[in-house]
Amino acid sequence: MMRAIGIPAYKPDIYAADAIVGPYPYYEEMRRLGPVVWLTKQKVYALPRYAECKAVLRDDKNFGSGQGVALNRLTNRLSRGTTLNSDGAEHDQRRKLVAHRMLPRALRSISDSVDAAAADVVDAALHKGDVDGVLDLAAALPLAVVPDLIGWPHDQRDHLIEWGGATFDILGPLNWRAIKAMPNAFRMLRFARRVVRDRTVLEGSLAYELLAAADEGKLSHDECPPLIVDYIAPSLDTTMSAISNALYLFATHPEQWQLLKDEPNLMSNAINEVVRYEPPLRAFARSVDQQTAIGGVTIPAGARVLVMYASANRDEREWDEPAVFDIRRDAGRQIGFGQGAHACAGQGLARLETTAILRALSERVDRIELTGDPMWAINNIIHRHERLPLKLIPT
Ligand code: HEM
Repeated sequence: MMRAIGIPAYKPDIYAADAIVGPYPYYEEMRRLGPVVWLTKQKVYALPRYAECKAVLRDDKNFGSGQGVALNRLTNRLSRGTTLNSDGAEHDQRRKLVAHRMLPRALRSISDSVDAAAADVVDAALHKGDVDGVLDLAAALPLAVVPDLIGWPHDQRDHLIEWGGATFDILGPLNWRAIKAMPNAFRMLRFARRVVRDRTVLEGSLAYELLAAADEGKLSHDECPPLIVDYIAPSLDTTMSAISNALYLFATHPEQWQLLKDEPNLMSNAINEVVRYEPPLRAFARSVDQQTAIGGVTIPAGARVLVMYASANRDEREWDEPAVFDIRRDAGRQIGFGQGAHACAGQGLARLETTAILRALSERVDRIELTGDPMWAINNIIHRHERLPLKLIPT
């Protein structure tokens, strides 16, 4: 694909390790260049501003996901059969088969057990004193809750974080990092196929219900593995990112932590502000079948555009002082969970878990203190800490 005349080009590689660790100056420069920017390295039209990202996400007729949302063909082929990688009626049907399990009404039945699990996780961390915010808090709750809900069998759970991270890594360009992640992403898919073949999913779970639907002829059994991967792959890293980002932000903004403790009704907005400020997912692509205009710029047929959720959420055209973390700001319109037809199907669960852990912490912890330098994980798509040394100071 060639760059259309008049569209500014951006040469730095936003998938290089430096840009993954500290992406915001890169995004700021791209937003300054214009509403559509040609990424020289990836040969794709990037949308760094809020208005264009939102418009494209809402226009799933002109900006499709069916040819894949990754920046490389291999992953786009591998992702066939998923909800994420589908359009129109096919997408509606796939979403209908599973997503109802993640709606607030369906999740109500597990909310007490999620609260209890969060209380256990926080009590164990308090007992320890010095903790790793990622392992001891951010990973502990999703691991305790989500594999059971989805129905992943007990063996192979040790690999879930690694396999899930790899499944995200390969959704970037086909750089060295994505190539290295391929074997683990394949393992996840292969194991999902085996789970369906051997019918080892947990009874009553999301995957169990999906298999029952296949038995009734509502879909074929071959269609089940990608749909299970659709839900198990993003179920850990994303929420780990939101929780660990929240821990970091509240540790470095103690006045905001005090505010949340004093005004618990700010919780839902606080989660939106965390996801606005540090979006767990950086960007996904869409394809353009027919020549289309975005932000007054003509995009040629056959092009791919990159929707940069994480840049949009810091766009100074949309947000006052976007680099300020403020749980009182109106953050509800952030697009860190996507928007439109493909908006995150699991956000109810992610919000439930993040709320549970922050509530358990706010009831027990006076201050969250950083005790060392945090370390970012290097992943093409997921923006999360690898390590976050913390001390919890009890109330
Ligand atoms: C803080 C946590 C999370 C964030 C920030 C997040 C973010 C996103 C985003 C941005 C999309 C849109 C993709 C697109 O535009 O193409 C998405 C889609 C999706 N998410 Fe999440 N996600 C989170 C947690 C979860 C969880 C816990 C699950 C499942 C257990 C999940 C399952 C899905 C699925 C199945 C889709 C595809 C929906 C579709 O294509 O219709 N997500 N997520």
